Amino acid sequence: MRLVLVGPPGAGKGTQAAFIADHFGIPSISTGDLFRSHVAAGTDLGKEAKRYLSTGELVPDEITINMVAGRLDDRDTVGGFLLDGFPRNVPQAEVLGRLLKDRGLELDVVLELVIEPEEVIRRLSGRRTCRGCGKIWHIEFDPTARPGVCDRCGGELYVRDDDQPETVRHRLEVYTEQTAPLVDYYAATGRLVGIQATGPVEDITARAIDVLEGFTE
Ligand code: AP5
Repeated sequence: MRLVLVGPPGAGKGTQAAFIADHFGIPSISTGDLFRSHVAAGTDLGKEAKRYLSTGELVPDEITINMVAGRLDDRDTVGGFLLDGFPRNVPQAEVLGRLLKDRGLELDVVLELVIEPEEVIRRLSGRRTCRGCGKIWHIEFDPTARPGVCDRCGGELYVRDDDQPETVRHRLEVYTEQTAPLVDYYAATGRLVGIQATGPVEDITARAIDVLEGFTE
C-alpha cells in the first residue's frame, strides 16, 4: 500500500498514521517529524528548516523534495509507505508522481481527513508530544497518567513551537492556500477518499482502515 494522508494541521494525521501504518505493516514517513529531527540534531538542513517551521510557512520545495526522495530510497519502503505531510502543494505532488513513475510505481490512495477549523484549534492548543518516542498526546482528549510524562516510554512531553495560537492560524491559512488544492488534484486521479476525522480516535482509525482495505491489491 502506497498511501498519502492529507488534512489540515491538527486533523489527526500523525495520530492516525501510527495506527494505519501499523495495520498495513508499512513505514509512516512524516516530513514534519523529519524536519523536527533535523532541527533537534542541529544539522544544516535543520538550521535552514527551523525558520519556516517556527512561522508556519512551508519549507522550500527543493529542500523538502530532496529529503523525501532520499527517504523513499530506504529499503523499508519496498513494500509500501504512508506519507504524512507530503506532498503539501501541487508542485510537490507532481514531483512525487514522477519519483514513483521512475521507480515503476504509483500511489494507491490518498486519504483526506476532513475536520472543521474550530476543532483543529482545540486540538492543537492541548497537544503534547513525547521527546523520547514521538507519541502524540492531548491534555484533555488523550491525557497521560502523570502530567508532562509519556505513559509509553517515560519521556518528557513538550509543546511544539508552531502550536502557538498565532502560528496555528497562519498554518491554517497556508493549508487553505497551498495544500487544499491537492484535494481536487487527487480527486481527478480517482484515488482520493475522504473520511470525517471527528469523534473517538479508534472510530476514525476503523473508518480509515475500512476504506483503505478497498485499495489493497
Ligand atoms: P507537520 O508536522 O506535518 O504539521 P501539520 O500538517 O501542521 O500537522 P500536525 O502535525 O500539526 O497535526 P496532525 O494532523 O498530525 O495532528 P495530530 O495527530 O498531531 O508540519 C510542520 C511544519 O513542517 C509545517 O508547518 C512546515 O513548515 C513543515 N513541513 C512539513 N511538511 C512539509 C512539506 N511537505 N513541504 C514544506 N514544508 C513542510 O493531532 C493533533 C492533536 O489532536 C493531538 O494532541 C492529538 O492527541 C489530538 N487528536 C487527534 N485525534 C483526535 C480525536 N479524534 N479527538 C480528539 N483529539 C484528537
